[in-house]
Amino acid sequence: MTILKLQHIMSNEIARRAFLSRPPEPPASVLLSDPFQSIYIGTTKIFKVPFTWSFINLTNPHIAVVGITGSGKSFFVKTLLIRASYLWNTNAVIIDWAGEYKAWVKQTNGIVVSLGKGDYLNIMDLSGMKPLDRTKQIITSLDILTDIALYPEQKRVTEEAIDQAYVDAGFIASEKAPDDKDAPTLKDVIAILQEKLQEGKYEYPAELENAIYRLRQFSKEGEDYFARKSTLDLGKLVESGLVDIDLSALPDERFRALAALFILQTLKEKMRSEGWSETKGLKALVVLDEAWKVASDEKSDAITIVREGRKYQFGLIVASQNPTDINEAIFSNVGTTFMLRIKFEKFLNYLQGSMNFSEFIREEITKFGVGQAAVEMAFQTSLRFPGTFILEKIQGEEPLYVYIIDMSDVLTQSELSSGAIQRDYQFEKDELKNKFIEYNISGEGVDKIFAAMDGQSRSIKMLEFVAALKDAGVTIANVVTFLKSLSIDDVLITRIISNAGAGNAQI
Ligand SMILES: Nc1ncnc2c1ncn2[C@@H]1O[C@H](COP(=O)(O)OP(=O)(O)OP(=O)(O)O)[C@@H](O)[C@H]1O
Ligand SMILES: [Mg+2]
Repeated sequence: MTILKLQHIMSNEIARRAFLSRPPEPPASVLLSDPFQSIYIGTTKIFKVPFTWSFINLTNPHIAVVGITGSGKSFFVKTLLIRASYLWNTNAVIIDWAGEYKAWVKQTNGIVVSLGKGDYLNIMDLSGMKPLDRTKQIITSLDILTDIALYPEQKRVTEEAIDQAYVDAGFIASEKAPDDKDAPTLKDVIAILQEKLQEGKYEYPAELENAIYRLRQFSKEGEDYFARKSTLDLGKLVESGLVDIDLSALPDERFRALAALFILQTLKEKMRSEGWSETKGLKALVVLDEAWKVASDEKSDAITIVREGRKYQFGLIVASQNPTDINEAIFSNVGTTFMLRIKFEKFLNYLQGSMNFSEFIREEITKFGVGQAAVEMAFQTSLRFPGTFILEKIQGEEPLYVYIIDMSDVLTQSELSSGAIQRDYQFEKDELKNKFIEYNISGEGVDKIFAAMDGQSRSIKMLEFVAALKDAGVTIANVVTFLKSLSIDDVLITRIISNAGAGNAQI
């Protein structure tokens, strides 16, 4: 009788048992980097070690984020962007598919650009590039978004017409474009093709007609978001703090994808020409959230950027509810993947197949609450510890909300212009909330007052504020005490109370 039995076992099976034979988390020296060079994310689940994200030892700064709806992807992205901006002055460009980040960017005083609502991008803009290279990029975008690849002749005439449009506008195909010259638009390209058709010398007129038809989709009157002179300078946007490029007003997914591809191409070229300088941290983070096709098509620049790793001065963050919408090359090349809650077996198989994490981690991912995540990091050197570990919770950061009580409806013109009396009172949200609680305002009342203020960009006139307090059931005596706590002068308090129609103030 034998006691020991030899088993045949595949090496990937052994890898899945890693949890049993190796420590379950990377050592603290890896998780906790220099606070001036890394971003705090949260503490680990097992040993409660603070995890600060740094890409110094990773293969690249790019990040993939996956998880079901509501699991906390956007919350995590916002947290990362804010902290990177504190730490490294990192700029951010959010390619905002569903307009999800718009309100937040406004609150944080960033720039919101709404394509399809008054803003245009000319996809033929050169931003210092050679026309030859831009032509190739436009053709790649058409390859990803239309059926042009199936029609080589149409592709050829389209490419030729784009080249011609640049030449006609005074550019030289193989030379970097000067900044002061306006690029042609898709409308010029269409005109060139039409002229060719009318000349009647070209032997396949149907091919020309189809090529024209394809481009017209992007240049119809009213839908020519990408076929007019640009209203924004992408080169500058990447140096402008927090920028949200809201694509939600564009008519369909193809338009959104065209914008996203163009933005990625332009940023990539800009960063490539400026060169990588690691000591400065990250110059920019570019966010692609739910970007259909842009993250999945092999030919997309999202994949090139991640594959080329550290070459650019920006980190690309690709987020999606559906991991199978993210090309495998992204998962296998990004420096860090954050996996929030995932339910579907299909998605878990896909992720486990490309990252090879343990069964233990897989099981945990299905049970995560909001903000919990498994983190997988790809280090530059080989590891003696698991590359995947679990975070108890992403410790997020809400932007500071400042609420203003505006005295302009109480003060006289001369008081306002003299500046002798304080004209507004500013509070941080929690501070104001705590004050309300001090004055026994019910939870419902507090919500009502905040709703009134939120409805007008968190600023409220004093008389309206007093009326809202009264509506929430605050007694006049308590309103007075509240006003006194702001060090408002008694005479002025009397004026406020009587103007608010609250009868006689008992001061
Ligand atoms: N780590 C966290 N701590 C506290 N609250 C969180 C955390 N993560 C998410 N939340 C809250 O949970 C809600 C959903 O989060 P979020 O919008 O980030 O989800 P999502 O994964 O982006 O969903 P969707 O796929 O629908 O865009 C938000 O109200 C957010 O404030
Ligand atoms: Mg989201």
